[in-house]
Amino acid sequence: MKFFIDSANLSELKLAAELGIIDGVTTNPSLIAKEGVPVEEQVRKICDIIDGDVSAEVVSTTSKEMIGEGRRLAKIHKNVVVKVPMIAEGIKAVGALAKEGIRTNVTLCFSAAQALVAAKAGAYIISPFVGRVDDIGWPGIELIDNIMKIYGNYNYKTQVLAASVRGPLHVIEIAKSGVHIVTLTYKVLEQLFHHPLTDKGLEQFLIDHRKAFELTNV
Ligand code: G3P
Repeated sequence: MKFFIDSANLSELKLAAELGIIDGVTTNPSLIAKEGVPVEEQVRKICDIIDGDVSAEVVSTTSKEMIGEGRRLAKIHKNVVVKVPMIAEGIKAVGALAKEGIRTNVTLCFSAAQALVAAKAGAYIISPFVGRVDDIGWPGIELIDNIMKIYGNYNYKTQVLAASVRGPLHVIEIAKSGVHIVTLTYKVLEQLFHHPLTDKGLEQFLIDHRKAFELTNV
């Protein structure tokens, strides 16, 4: 399973990159806005930090404008994947961009039917939002399972990227369903490392080591 970072913050991205387990980045207009830097400039910097797919989202809503915006975003760097909202105009843009060899990530997916449409249009990635589905009282993981089953039935090449992931339990359930990619906030990425028994065990190992080899030399 590929790990992407869901962030446009350069410090977070650098810290995540140092771990050596990050395969790409997802951004969205809200994340870019938080950094206060124009999208093209910020995406270029992100591509310098992480060598993998970097999703950059369009902010127009007609297919014609999205295609133009998508072409501009794709020119920033070879790793840019153009993120397009899951609306009819977006799906038209996905088909047109795919014909030009521009890869797309269809975002704001909340149903298996939407994921089916995106795959048919030739999306490179589909992004179902697990946490936001949970928020409205539906099991987000079930959405992931359904999409994986449907894509498997027809051998769609579209990669499933689980987004809106809120914690380690989500990550485990998502991994069990076999998704291709999970995108994580830096906070959730950090949470994956921790276990109280690891900390306790390490503390004891170091105490025992010091007792045996350091204190005796004093
Ligand atoms: O980038 C899209 C997604 O990961 C947003 O997550 O936590 O705002 O629902 P969240």
